[in-house]
Amino acid sequence: MNTAVPTTPTASAPTDAIDLSVARARSTVLEDRIREDPGRFRVLTGDRPTGRLHLGHYFGTLHNRVRLQNLGVEMFVLIADYQVLTDRDVADNLSGIVEELVLDYLAVGIDPERSTILTHSAVPALNQLLLPFLSLVSVAELERNPTVKDEIAHSRQSSVSGLMFTYPVHQAADILFCKANLVPVGRDQLPHLETTRTVARRFNDRYGAGTAVFPQPDALLSSAPLLLGTDGGKMSKSRGNAITLAADADETARLIKGARTDAERRIAYDPATRPEVSSLLLLAALCQGRTPEEVAADIGSAGAAALKRTVTEAVNDYLAPIRARRQEYAQDRAYLRRIVREGNERATAIAERTLAEVRAAMNSLF
Ligand code: TRP
Repeated sequence: MNTAVPTTPTASAPTDAIDLSVARARSTVLEDRIREDPGRFRVLTGDRPTGRLHLGHYFGTLHNRVRLQNLGVEMFVLIADYQVLTDRDVADNLSGIVEELVLDYLAVGIDPERSTILTHSAVPALNQLLLPFLSLVSVAELERNPTVKDEIAHSRQSSVSGLMFTYPVHQAADILFCKANLVPVGRDQLPHLETTRTVARRFNDRYGAGTAVFPQPDALLSSAPLLLGTDGGKMSKSRGNAITLAADADETARLIKGARTDAERRIAYDPATRPEVSSLLLLAALCQGRTPEEVAADIGSAGAAALKRTVTEAVNDYLAPIRARRQEYAQDRAYLRRIVREGNERATAIAERTLAEVRAAMNSLF
């Protein structure tokens, strides 16, 4: 894989610049520690089950999870099937979407022997942590969360549910039930990580009697490159501009063929002035382990059609083994369900131990 990922701006999100540079610096230190001693880290990451995963997810987070797993870090991958209800009234075909997610995980190399895949709704003791945790944050703090505010501003719902305001605290339960100390996130999740750290700190202060029940987990900020959708907007399944891992080679070719570019024949990497062309170059570069400048130099003045041919081939070659594995796993739905059931059992055993500690610390073992 390309380790020298070019620095392009990550998706803009409401986090202030100082927090961001602190988180970046801290992440560099953490990367060194992970390499030195992966056994010290327990990672928890999560996704909302909203649909199939696409190349933005892949190069944004999935690839990094597999890297961490393969470095020997203990990994929990959480499917946030309650959180998905924050921006919709009902989650349609949830079980189908969860199965597709698990397929994507397995296809990219998440190994259920080494990583625990769970759906948070199926882990009662995790959910019970929400109540004591909610007592540790104020309504004013919940209302200040910039990511939540942003989601409310873009919500399709007619009214804002209580879950919308409290899901960051639920996310603290997602992370702390297994005492994860490392959470790979994009910048939009930094406010939630701050809530988690606040909850952990306050719980320890109030009930810990000198010993820390919970770690204060670190955000591991991914240097996720910004890949645009084929229409030049943010890559998103609902906009029909995303290349999913599950798509076949023909569909991929069709999507890339229809991608927005510009009229200049000379292909060059310049994200500021030529965002669409640059995003395509970046995508090919990520797939080929090269820099976008190198890809651009190869294409030269051959124009957008040549660029698209290069990108299509790069993406289809890169995804071929992932897609083959995906198809193989797709034959065995019972296996997919078993992975989740076993993950939930493992998570439940851990969550029950943590809840027992919490209740003991709170002097509420009745
Ligand atoms: N909030 C995350 C998102 O919207 C999903 C998520 C839920 C998560 N629980 C988590 C991420 C715990 C990291 C850790 O994408």
